[in-house]
Amino acid sequence: MKERSNFSSRLGFVLAAAGSAVGLGNIWRFPYLAAQYGGGTFLLVYLILTVTFGFSLMLAEIAIGRKTGLSAIGAFKKLDHRFGFLGILASLVPIIIFPYYSVIGGWVTKYLAVFLTGGGKSAAADTYYTDFIASPVEPLGWFFLFLAATAVIVLLGVEKGIEKVSKFMMPVLVILTVGIAVYCITLPGAGEGVAYYLKPNLKDFSTKTVLAAMGQLFYSMSLAMGIMVTYGSYMQKDNNLESSVRQIEIFDTGFAFLAGLMIIPAVFVFSGKDALQTGPGLMFVTLPKVFANMPFGELIGAVFFLLVLFAALTSSISLMETIVSIICDRLHWTRKRSALTVAVCALILGAPSSMGFGPLSFVKILNLSILDFMDFISNSVMMPVVAFFTCIFVGFFIKPEAIGEEVRLSSRTFKSEKLFSVMIKWIAPLFLVAILLSSVFHWV
Ligand code: PHE
Repeated sequence: MKERSNFSSRLGFVLAAAGSAVGLGNIWRFPYLAAQYGGGTFLLVYLILTVTFGFSLMLAEIAIGRKTGLSAIGAFKKLDHRFGFLGILASLVPIIIFPYYSVIGGWVTKYLAVFLTGGGKSAAADTYYTDFIASPVEPLGWFFLFLAATAVIVLLGVEKGIEKVSKFMMPVLVILTVGIAVYCITLPGAGEGVAYYLKPNLKDFSTKTVLAAMGQLFYSMSLAMGIMVTYGSYMQKDNNLESSVRQIEIFDTGFAFLAGLMIIPAVFVFSGKDALQTGPGLMFVTLPKVFANMPFGELIGAVFFLLVLFAALTSSISLMETIVSIICDRLHWTRKRSALTVAVCALILGAPSSMGFGPLSFVKILNLSILDFMDFISNSVMMPVVAFFTCIFVGFFIKPEAIGEEVRLSSRTFKSEKLFSVMIKWIAPLFLVAILLSSVFHWV
């Protein structure tokens, strides 16, 4: 049996988990969903879900990993052999996310190149983004480049190097994001946008808001796909579980909040309210306009997209690594063979998502573009299913007390034990069934 290496310190664990959690989900996905689904209302729903549901699920996943010392497929099975399927189901999620994540990573790479070569001003034009994603070949090329970079890093096993760099880059990204957000909210005309983003308004509330917030929560915190179980398996027994989870949560949510503050008010200033419905392109449409109006915008834009690229790479590495290690473990393939296979499959699976805005734009599934459909299937269908079974598994099979025991290995008290137990057993499962039903209705 392989010796499992451990994170040497609690900070190391928190940073590594936060590195996986903070990525395009925070900077690209959160702002466009918040813009689309009611601004302040979405934000409030998201925050409530994070401290209750997100906390409980993340705690459960990390505790299961640490308790068993195994990654998802083995961990659930070890605790109860009837739940082996859950590990497999969870592992399917990254397989769906990874290809289209790389498509967006490709867009980020393209924007970095544009800003580096002094084309930032042209990227601020209204049709720049739509022309780019509609072109037949170019987005595929950037997608391929991003995917290849991820694959090379995973193949050479130089993730550690990248993680070191990103530990330095992340704080810089935070500072830059704060700076850009401050610049944006002080622009004339930003007030309406700030109010839209921060003030909940009951009339914006709908089940769609909750569905979107829930999907975003899974995505952003890397939940319901076995990843946190794996991270937990590397965590030392004397690291405080509860406060680690709280810290990851604060870090991840804080980042998303800032990204929203950077993008949403700027939408009101530069594009007008109607642009709130832009969807996945929002960051790419809005930020170049911000940079074009800023002193040193070209340079700031280049630095910004470079940092976003790093955040995206750490996440795509963790996605790809998960899939590669499952294949290595299951099929006993070499790392090289399995990494290459994953890369080729991701290329084949991701290409339609990329082309769905161009040559394949006539293909609509449930009225969604191919990329949006992949996003919907993983975030609004598969992850709620995995989360539901995880709750049932913890609530009624291994019991919340088993998680409590694991938590108390590293601290005398488990402060949120009551909340945890009620959430995992009753509130979360009921809620998840409701969410799933509403997804299905959305479907038909
Ligand atoms: N949480 C990451 C993000 O917000 C996405 C991700 C999911 C990364 C799963 C790794 C694993 O971008």
